[in-house]
Amino acid sequence: MYRVHLDASKSYDIFIGSGLIKNAGTYLSRLLPRCRVAVITDSNVYPLYAQTVCQSLAENGFEYDTFVFPAGEQSKNISTLSDMLEFMANCQLTRSDFVLALGGGVTGDMAGFAAAVYARGIPFVQIPTTLLAAVDSSVGGKTAIDLKAGKNLAGAFHQPSLVLTDTDVIAALPAQLLSEGAAEVIKYGVLQDPELFSWMCESTWTEKIPEIILRSVEIKRAMVMEDELDRGVRKMLNLGHTFGHAIEKCADFSLSHGFGVAIGMAIAAGAAGKEEICRRIIAANTACGLPSTCIFSPEELAQAALTDKKRSGSTVDLILPEEIGRCYIQKTPVSELCVLFEKGLSMIKELI
Ligand code: GLY
Repeated sequence: MYRVHLDASKSYDIFIGSGLIKNAGTYLSRLLPRCRVAVITDSNVYPLYAQTVCQSLAENGFEYDTFVFPAGEQSKNISTLSDMLEFMANCQLTRSDFVLALGGGVTGDMAGFAAAVYARGIPFVQIPTTLLAAVDSSVGGKTAIDLKAGKNLAGAFHQPSLVLTDTDVIAALPAQLLSEGAAEVIKYGVLQDPELFSWMCESTWTEKIPEIILRSVEIKRAMVMEDELDRGVRKMLNLGHTFGHAIEKCADFSLSHGFGVAIGMAIAAGAAGKEEICRRIIAANTACGLPSTCIFSPEELAQAALTDKKRSGSTVDLILPEEIGRCYIQKTPVSELCVLFEKGLSMIKELI
């Protein structure tokens, strides 16, 4: 088992290993006094893992109540959050109790936000059940819900007290969910870790799931410790996201986030004029079952990118690769976005 320790406004451990889910209560009892736990999960994860987690909570002297919401991004809204908060109040949760987020990014983001605002903030614990949540959203304390105007537009920074990533749960995921998470792993490789990147270029990458999660979490941990509130170096984690988010938006969010990021990273390399990096990102995407191109025009994509929340005034901070393992932030006038989409997409077309 691996242990990564993160020191930010709150210090906490991220455990990564086999069989953690059935011992969740044991880990929690070492950290928190016996209390009441609001287990928050979705309709997909509930039948798979809720009973195991709840049994372990009970065996370790915790009382628990379970809130289950319909799986999917469409639930990540103010109405589900409101139901969640009312549920927590009905359970008479106090500040010495805690929320346990059992699920993927939607569950973690929403349960974390509920924990951030309920009683002006109570502790929460993350048990990520997707690769994407394990390597990204469960670590670093970003919590949010979507508004009609855009994804993640209302939220708070609220660090978890503990993250338990059970690698057996991740290894058992269907191929599509593994691919979605792989995009974020490729991202860490392009940002800082050429060896991790090379693992993702092999079709056997799933054999290294524990190591892949560890290397990704270590990179994210360092960025969060340096820039918890996302004002500087943490922005690097947006590699592929501005371009990718525009693609997700043009597809009316029928394309998953990971798929958008995968294409977005290839566009970023093309936009930076880096043919070899673009070729290698396409190869990694292919090995991980991810796409590298899309059907939308540069004009449509640039228009969608204009409403990105990462835009500040008339510029957007683009993350562009210098080489595999090194990237830089380029403040870019939004008026140049269309040309950059065009440059990125044409290079991808030439290489595919
Ligand atoms: N998902 C990017 C971040 O946590 O900053």
